[in-house]
Amino acid sequence: MNKGQKLLKKAKKIIPGGNQLLSKRSEMFLPGYWPNYYNKAKGYKIWDLDNKMYYDFAGMGVTSCVLGYADHELNSAIINGLKKGSMTTLNAKEEIDLAKEFLKIHKWAGMAKFCKSGGEACLVAIRIARAYSKKQNIAFCGYHGWHDWYLAANIKNSKNLDYQLLPGLKTKGVSKSFKGTIKPFFYNDLNSFKKLFKRKNNNIGTVIMEPMRATKPNKKFLSEIKKIAKKNNAILIFDEITSGFKDNYGGIHLKFNVKPDLAIFGKSIGNGYPISAIIGKKKIMQVAQETFISSTMWTDRLGFIAANKTLQKLKKLNVNKKISEYGIKIKKGWEYAAKKNGLKIIISGINAIPSFKFDHIDNLKISTFYIQEMLKVGFLANTTLATTYAYNDKIINRYLIETEKVFQKINYHLKNNSLVLKGEVKHSTFKRLNS
Ligand SMILES: Cc1ncc(COP(=O)(O)O)c(C=O)c1O
Repeated sequence: MNKGQKLLKKAKKIIPGGNQLLSKRSEMFLPGYWPNYYNKAKGYKIWDLDNKMYYDFAGMGVTSCVLGYADHELNSAIINGLKKGSMTTLNAKEEIDLAKEFLKIHKWAGMAKFCKSGGEACLVAIRIARAYSKKQNIAFCGYHGWHDWYLAANIKNSKNLDYQLLPGLKTKGVSKSFKGTIKPFFYNDLNSFKKLFKRKNNNIGTVIMEPMRATKPNKKFLSEIKKIAKKNNAILIFDEITSGFKDNYGGIHLKFNVKPDLAIFGKSIGNGYPISAIIGKKKIMQVAQETFISSTMWTDRLGFIAANKTLQKLKKLNVNKKISEYGIKIKKGWEYAAKKNGLKIIISGINAIPSFKFDHIDNLKISTFYIQEMLKVGFLANTTLATTYAYNDKIINRYLIETEKVFQKINYHLKNNSLVLKGEVKHSTFKRLNS
């Protein structure tokens, strides 16, 4: 057993589930064998507790680290800020620079607010939208974090969230009084959206969705959503926590030319340092002054410094172009490797967050085998990854060569009914873990 797994056993006794994020659980990759903890990271390399070095093709910090780990320029800016004091009685002027940059990119917006995590930013946007619209119900599509307003979707029907991103989310502890306040619709299924507004007294004042995740929006899908929301006096929120700044500089909605009322960003805007943003039309954002939205740690200086520096680099280096090119290369490599080895895979995702799925009844088992075999040759791999500016063609070629070899093994084992895992099949849903 590696040091990481040994430590995880101890962690599970004192931390519920062993860590803080479902998507970073060992069980979501390779139960019992994933290295789980890191000593240090640089670029696209990670050293685990046994000081074994791995190449990260498993998400780069849950899609946050577009510039790569421990980016030198970014770290220098942070260290400089640290030395000058990261928390004081007075405010950090860097928040104004960040607000200005967001509003420069998104001309439709007039004001910005900042917090730390993605889920928190969603909660702030929902509060503002409800306060402005004076209606409590929400129509949603996609994943928007762990807070009560969102999980409430599963009170009425425990499967309401299953078709969005994370299946199996439980609602214990969420007030039952939220039942019926949030209603799902499905991506590229305009009818499912229209239906929500057809019911009498729907009271929907907020529409929140990811403008794009796995597949491109059908022609007019986003513009029709906007039209219907507007007609029903509902605030439209685009959640760009994952999609923002990856395909283009700014929100991906700019590419589709559909402007929301509010938009939310997180993850890559600070290259992994805690910072998230809510931007919106001035008259709507001003309502934030009529309801109490406030937190000490939102004034931390380092998040603003990180975001200002990250955005500066994303723009200067044209990072979205490079990471999209890497993603296209990886998608093509997967396609080639699968075809060559008689495997059927389904590829999706924006180019910088490419994903594949084995078109096979044992998809999860085969995916676990893929991760298991890639780990043996030094790759933290998964069937979804996020590309980073720190990659280069050489490491991608190497990754694709190893992927092809594993695909060859998969084909062989499937034919001979001999595919064996060292441990259990990886999880794809939320589950309670034993300590
Ligand atoms: C679209 C979207 N919204 C919200 C969140 C929640 O963000 P966080 O995990 O930072 O709370 C995520 C996280 O993956 C996300 O992808």
